[in-house]
Amino acid sequence: MGRKRKKISCFAGISVCNVGHCNESVIKAAKKQMDSFVHISNLYYGQSQVKLGEEFVKRTFKKGRVFLSNSGAEANECAIKLARKWGFLNPSKIGSRYKVTCFNNSFHGRTLATISAIGQKKFHEYLKPLQEKFVFAEISNIDSVKNL
Ligand SMILES: Cc1ncc(COP(=O)(O)O)c(C=O)c1O
Repeated sequence: MGRKRKKISCFAGISVCNVGHCNESVIKAAKKQMDSFVHISNLYYGQSQVKLGEEFVKRTFKKGRVFLSNSGAEANECAIKLARKWGFLNPSKIGSRYKVTCFNNSFHGRTLATISAIGQKKFHEYLKPLQEKFVFAEISNIDSVKNL
């Protein structure tokens, strides 16, 4: 009957995985990868990982290393671990720096550490005790960050 309507999806994905919905080039790349191997441990690496890592470095900080993870939560776990390691290796006069400053109303994923970093109490229900030393500041309030 009526006119055929074409629709464009403007939804790129949620936050940590903005690859669009059924994007042709993403599908093509994923299929190509499936023909090679689906999963390898972090003990090894594949050529597509190297290519992605090099491209990422080229387009961002120009030098450095890339940690590829499976999810936003895992990426945030990595960030927390890097910060804790740095705090341990660079102690202040009073010892290791291990506090992680987070923001109220934030969301960081569904692992225990990232849930501990979420600034929304509803995510903490039933899961206590949470990871220690996550402290919370108000978004858009630099003094609340400095106070922590
Ligand atoms: C800001 C933010 N951080 C972390 C995550 C967690 O990502 P994932 O579900 O891939 O673990 C999300 C997911 O929506 C997110 O929006």
